[in-house]
Amino acid sequence: MAKKGIFIVIEGLDGSGKTTQAALLAEKLKKNHNILLTAEPSHGKIGKFIRESCLYENTRLPTEAEALMFAADRIEHMYSEVKPALDEGKLVICDRYIYSSLAYQGNSGLSLEWIKNINARSLQPDICIFIDVPPEKVIERLQRKKSVMETLEIQKKVREVYMKYVAKGELVRVDGDKDKEQVAEALYRTVSGLIEVAQKYI
Ligand code: TYD
Repeated sequence: MAKKGIFIVIEGLDGSGKTTQAALLAEKLKKNHNILLTAEPSHGKIGKFIRESCLYENTRLPTEAEALMFAADRIEHMYSEVKPALDEGKLVICDRYIYSSLAYQGNSGLSLEWIKNINARSLQPDICIFIDVPPEKVIERLQRKKSVMETLEIQKKVREVYMKYVAKGELVRVDGDKDKEQVAEALYRTVSGLIEVAQKYI
């Protein structure tokens, strides 16, 4: 699918500060780019259903259905928000994307290959960042257990999957275990460099 803008994805554990960092990045990049800052699960119909029903023990769906819901939300989000913004030449910053499905649903016993297959119709991002904060730290930050995903055991396994894609060169790791401003500056420098490279291919 041809596109004019640049699609940036920010990934990380729950409580890693990625939502704050995505917003700070958008603020910094706003000076030179038109930005769409968005997130998954999205604010569309399916995303709303996921937020209300998929993340809590008593309303959880079977694992395969959960992965399909995230994939369906991604498709809806692509057509309603991401693709139109890219077509207008915007820089899209998305808080979570396919790597979240690989990391979280992959840990629920599904094969990474099947998860990739059900997400094959979603747009490929241009720049993918993993904000790395130790699982022990995020659990400490989260304080109370909010969703089924937010246990130390799950966050450790989720980080392992993310790091697998860092090793493959698909995700670029940014050290998130520093103060907020330092992380924001490192993220901005990394993404700015990658935007320059991406612009050569668009
Ligand atoms: P999160 O980014 O924490 O949303 P919010 O900040 O609004 O609470 O995402 C909610 C949860 O959804 C998080 O625990 C990770 C999970 N998730 C998946 O399991 N698979 C996915 O594909 C996505 C996008 C999120």
